[in-house]
Amino acid sequence: MRESLAKKHGIDKDKIICGNGSDEVLSLLAHCFAGPEDEVIYSEHGFLVYPIAVRAAGAIPVPAPEKNLRADVTSILSLSTEKTKLCYIANPNNPTGTYLSTNELITLRQGLPEKCILVIDSAYAEYVDESDYSDGINLVNKYNNIACTRTFSKIYGLAALRIGWMYASKDIVEYINRIRLPFNTNSIAQMAAIEALKDNKFIKDAKKHNDIWKPWTEKKLEEYGIRTIPGVANFILAKFDDEMQANSCLQFLEKQGILIRGIKEYGLPEYLRITVGLEEENKVMCKEIQNFLNQYEK
Ligand SMILES: Cc1ncc(COP(=O)(O)O)c(C=O)c1O
Repeated sequence: MRESLAKKHGIDKDKIICGNGSDEVLSLLAHCFAGPEDEVIYSEHGFLVYPIAVRAAGAIPVPAPEKNLRADVTSILSLSTEKTKLCYIANPNNPTGTYLSTNELITLRQGLPEKCILVIDSAYAEYVDESDYSDGINLVNKYNNIACTRTFSKIYGLAALRIGWMYASKDIVEYINRIRLPFNTNSIAQMAAIEALKDNKFIKDAKKHNDIWKPWTEKKLEEYGIRTIPGVANFILAKFDDEMQANSCLQFLEKQGILIRGIKEYGLPEYLRITVGLEEENKVMCKEIQNFLNQYEK
């Protein structure tokens, strides 16, 4: 699998580690490089696996305030000290969908202590077209203190097989290999991932689908008076009037068998995260949100 990934991305297979989902690699990074009294910075509304992994490693998670639901390099750097061992950035982030530009990532890297590893979690990279975006691979090539994580769970649609990977310097890879359990990924997931890497058409179609249905769904929601946050992944962050309205909508949809995501635990109780579905699913969901709003206003 490392050979297939190396070939696909034009990188060195010895700088790749595979994991039981990228979650495992994110957790291995915390266990390997942070411990009691060490600090790990992540963005305020960043992916929740980061503080979980950091606490499990006995270290201290330090959330950095965001600006307009976007990671803020200045705020991250103002919190960084010699105790900071890792900094996690999901790019784009789940659940906000916002991203940092390549230049912002470079500013962040240059401002962090040299011994602090910058982890760029590019789980949704395949969905992003923006010209100022980097999936992190070119940055790993330039800096030996950046690790980039990727997954087969998103655009490849293989989440339940639990397969992800990390690209980083040989030093980082060597340290992680010291604590990685030898049989952390299973052969079925690896075989599926290798085949998936060959299926360019699937990825192209999935991307095209997202490019059509994400803006379509956003437009519908905006028509209903629900503000959406400009994101670049395969989900929409929708802002309701308040927590009560968001919760009621979540329950209303659940009763119709439509599952979207409440994100109270991300500190965003008045928002719901909506993943782009199949054409029919998007249509039914929008219709039901409209029904909910008509009924809620009464
Ligand atoms: C930003 C981000 N990173 C990593 C993951 C973990 O993906 P996996 O462990 O399935 O590879 C997710 C999944 O929700 C995610 O949203």
